[in-house]
Amino acid sequence: MDSAGWDSFTKRTGIKVVLDAAAAFDSLRPGSAPAMVSLHATKAFGIGEGGVVIARAPEFIGRVRRRSNFGFNAEHGVEVAGGNYKMSEYAAAVGHAALDLWPAMRDAARGVAEAYKKALEGLPGLRIPSWFGQHAGAYCVVELTQPIGAQVVRELDRAGIESRLWWGRPCHSHLAFAKCKRSPLPNTEWLASRVLNLPFYPDLTTADVLRVRDALGAILASQHRSAALLKKAL
Ligand SMILES: Cc1ncc(COP(=O)(O)O)c(C=O)c1O
Repeated sequence: MDSAGWDSFTKRTGIKVVLDAAAAFDSLRPGSAPAMVSLHATKAFGIGEGGVVIARAPEFIGRVRRRSNFGFNAEHGVEVAGGNYKMSEYAAAVGHAALDLWPAMRDAARGVAEAYKKALEGLPGLRIPSWFGQHAGAYCVVELTQPIGAQVVRELDRAGIESRLWWGRPCHSHLAFAKCKRSPLPNTEWLASRVLNLPFYPDLTTADVLRVRDALGAILASQHRSAALLKKAL
């Protein structure tokens, strides 16, 4: 995660930044901007529930501590409004155990990413982000060259492979937000229909990865044939 880039943005513009580094446990290189890292079960370093704030300024860290502990200061006086946002004892214990396992989990996650990269490279109709596999993550997010994400998810499901549209349905397409004022959102729609999340967990074997690749390859080839036939017919 490019903290240095955001620090120079703040220097240039005077706009302060807080980094949503939820999924960046392995890739975050802290800069001046405070960052929030999620430790939720869906992340590469998951402890069940919780997160950490990473910041350099001691005064800022003190404020985060006070606010997450009912607003109490060191003398146990309440000087600011706060809440009970401390990590639970149980989550902390799981975190301690997970730290012992981290080197092995990290290697396993990077191994799965490597297997995916090798398997998916050159598959027509698919693009792999350049950063994929550089750090241990918990996802295999790829981009389809055509807006056929929903069909691909359905077809993979039929083959017994669960996948997700990474962004789900765009906010403005939900009933609750449909009446909200908005400008056109072509980038949102573009991404929502093309970005796909494939099965990913550290125990995934290379054989599993190849099964996903074969199913995906067959679906994309069939979509490509249908599109070509339609084009010819028109
Ligand atoms: C970019 C981003 N921000 C925030 C969150 C929320 O993190 P948490 O589940 O720890 O609240 C996530 C988790 O999926 C995320 O990916």
